[in-house]
Formats: sequence, structure tokens, C-alpha cells
Amino acid sequence: MSRSAHPAGPRHADVLPEGHYSAPADDLNVLDPKVWAQTVTRTEDGSVSVGGIDVSTLAEQFGTPAYFLDETDFRARARAWRTAFGHDADVFYAGKAFLSRAVVRWLHEEGLNLDVCSGGELATALSAGMPADRIAFHGNNKSVAEITRAVEAGVGRIVLDSFQEIVRVAHIAQSLGRRQRVQIRVTVGVEAHTHEFIATAHEDQKFGIALADGQAAEAVRRALALDGLEVIGIHSHIGSQIFDMAGFEVAARRVVSLLAAIRDEHGIELPEIDLGGGLGIAYTSDDDPREPHEIAKALGEIVTRECEAAKLRTPRISVEPGRAIVGPTAFTLYEVGTIKPLEGLRTYVSVDGGMSDNIRTALYDAEYSVALVSRTSDAEPMLVRVVGKHCESGDIVVKDAFLPSDLAPGDLIAVPATGAYCRSMASNYNHALRPPVVAVRDGEARVIVRRETEEDLLRLDVG
Ligand code: LLP
Repeated sequence: MSRSAHPAGPRHADVLPEGHYSAPADDLNVLDPKVWAQTVTRTEDGSVSVGGIDVSTLAEQFGTPAYFLDETDFRARARAWRTAFGHDADVFYAGKAFLSRAVVRWLHEEGLNLDVCSGGELATALSAGMPADRIAFHGNNKSVAEITRAVEAGVGRIVLDSFQEIVRVAHIAQSLGRRQRVQIRVTVGVEAHTHEFIATAHEDQKFGIALADGQAAEAVRRALALDGLEVIGIHSHIGSQIFDMAGFEVAARRVVSLLAAIRDEHGIELPEIDLGGGLGIAYTSDDDPREPHEIAKALGEIVTRECEAAKLRTPRISVEPGRAIVGPTAFTLYEVGTIKPLEGLRTYVSVDGGMSDNIRTALYDAEYSVALVSRTSDAEPMLVRVVGKHCESGDIVVKDAFLPSDLAPGDLIAVPATGAYCRSMASNYNHALRPPVVAVRDGEARVIVRRETEEDLLRLDVG
């Protein structure tokens, strides 16, 4: 994942970075179903609606900026993953992508499990009634308090991330009179980015225990020796926004060879493997994501084939999609403010939010789409950069896109595919008030996370 240079660098100079934009679409009024949530359509009067409600009505009722989440689409995607993986596998939604109590209830109703990676996510899951045995607890530096709470609650699995944690979790479980089900997270030496992956022997990053140099085998040896732990499987997560299944193939092959080594050394066949999340979604019309049934088929075949070759029983597979479920289901609605044409370059369109509600463009050079949604327009396309209202030139929401040249202050524009890692990574930079998340379904809209207020900000500032 690339990181942009510090924005105070080239963006202050007279040389602007090269654009990656494609040519404008033939008709800017057409909404590509690939990037928009399922129930989003353009109505007869030209404006856009979601769940049967017009965006202008939504803006009046809930204000802007705001995230609108298509509940019908969320449930359909959750169900598609559940169905694709069937009864012999488990789908754990990765709560880090976006978590709220309403979402936890939808997941519960649709038969999904939940991956949490902090005390806060665990508290949210438990408070919304997710059964603890359907929760997996992750993290590379879980605190003693977090581990204790997870064990006491009875979470279905803790994913062990280091040698120290093996002992720590075993000790806490034993002192509570429990035997905690655990998986061991291994790093398989696969680094996957969008359309490519790199397979190496080592990985230079903070997560998991390396397969290399027999470290993972040693972790399993130590965990099996501790009474407080029941080792149920091996976990691997290779990256995010991945389109290429080949990285998973290498990862699965390496995990299965560890299972075979464990069988040879200890005489046991661990019953589960988790292949993590990371499946990509379409942020622009150029992206071609895989459907859940294709992913399930591909992963199932890889694991079965490798297990047959190693003469192992096929373990129960689990996966942890976050982005692929929630990402496409929401858009961010903004009101257009200042419009600044820069002769020969592009037009800067400022909106009433920015890097505080979507840090991904500044942080990862992420690409997004944008559309005028409060009306149609037949005006010529103009090359725009959609920027926020923060005191930073790197405060970019959409780097390069086309909007109609008659765009005016007060128009509503929307950025699709902002369901994942936008609200969950939102900040109060410049004392921005984090936007609400509004769930829309069958003509009804309801706030599931309310807008922050100045009172919220001042309550934390104890003077
Ligand atoms: N499982 C584990 C162990 C993970 O670390 C992650 C993501 C997932 C599952 C879910 O991955 P997903 O299916 O959502 O790609 N903030 C970044 C993404 C960070 C992902 C971290 N781990 C972004 O905005 O692109």
C-alpha cells in the first residue's frame, strides 16, 4: 500500500502530481452499479435515491456530511458470504471496517460471526447481543484487561499473535479456571496488494509469528504444552484490497504444510484454519472484484487439494471479510462549497467534510469515484479534485474525477464505497464533528451512529 509524501511537500510547489484519471464516462449522470450500493438509483426527476429515499430529503433531515448505509445491500452481501461458504465454513465479519450495534444485530440475524480487535470492539459486540462464542479476538498487543474480559466473556477464539501472548493468555485462562480456544496467527511470507502479491520467506512487520525458521512450529509446541489453551487452528491474513487469489493459494499451501508438520510431530490434526480477510472491492469502474461464491470455491479447492496431497483431513475454513461486506454499502454525502478553477490544471471542489471523514486518500493514495446526486446535468465534464475543509493541502477526498462543469455551491455530491475504513478511521482533526451513519431501508432512514456535537467535544475537554 503506498503512502503519499507529506502534503507540505510537492503539493505546495508549482508542480502537481501526475493524475491517474481515466477519460470521463460518456454520461456523468449514469451511476455504475459496481461502485454504488444496491438500492441506489437515479429517480425520474434526476436526483439520486437510496432505499427509496431521495438524497435531498436525506440531506435536509440528517445534514451533511453524512454516511448513508444501504441496509438491504449490507444484509444481502452478508448473506451472500454466508451462503457461499455454507455449513462447513465460518464467516467472521471484520468489525474494524465499520462496527456499530445495529451492524452487530444484522450480522447476528444473518448468521455471521464477528472478528474484533480491541476492547472497544468487543464491548460493542457484547452490548449488542452477539453470542460470545461467535466472536474472535485479534490484536498484536492485547492488554491483560482485554484478554481477561475476552476470556471471562467466553469468546469463541483468541488469535494469538506472539510468543509472549501464548503464555499471557494461558496464564489468564488458567487463573480464571478456563481453557481458552485459540488459533495461532502465522505470517506466511506473502504480501498481497490489490492485483499482485509477493511471496517471500520472511515478513518485516509486526503481526503474527513467522513460519520461517521454525518459529510457528515452536509457537504451536509451546501452546500445546499449556493447560489454559486449546489450540484449534492456524490463522493467516495476507493483506487488504486483494483481487488476485494467487496470494491466498501460496498462503494456504504454507499453512497446510504447517498442519502436516504438526501432525507429524504431535500426532494431532488441528481442526481449523482461518485465511483472514482482504478481498477487494470496486472503488472505481476500473476495479473488478470477485464474488463471494467464486472466492469460497477457490479457497475451498486450494485447501482441499493441499490437504489431500498432505494426507490430512480438510480442516474447517474460516474467513474474515470486512471491506467486502460493508465497503460498497455506503456513500458519503457532501454539500459543495467553494469551487476554485485552476487554469490549465483542474478545478478544486471543496466539500463540508474531508480527511476527518475519509483519511484513506491522504493515507494510502486511495482512489474514489464521485457523482453529482441532487440533479442531473448535461454540462461538459470538468476534471476536479474533491477536497475537504481541513487546514492541510493533503486533505483530498477524491484525487481525480470528472463532474459537470455547471457544478455550483449547494449541489450535493456523493462518494460511493465509503462503508469500510471511513467512519471507523474518522477523526476530530480541526475539531471536526464526526458525521452520522444513517441506515436506509425500504423507505425508512434511521440514525445508527449519531453526528457528534460540540458538546461531545467539550465533554472530553475537562478544562
Ligand atoms: N482479518 C484480519 C486479521 C485483519 O487484520 C483485517 C484487516 C481483516 C481481517 C479485514 O480485512 P478486509 O477484508 O476489511 O480488507 N485501514 C486499511 C485496511 C486495514 C486492514 C487491516 N486489517 C484501509 O483503509 O484500506
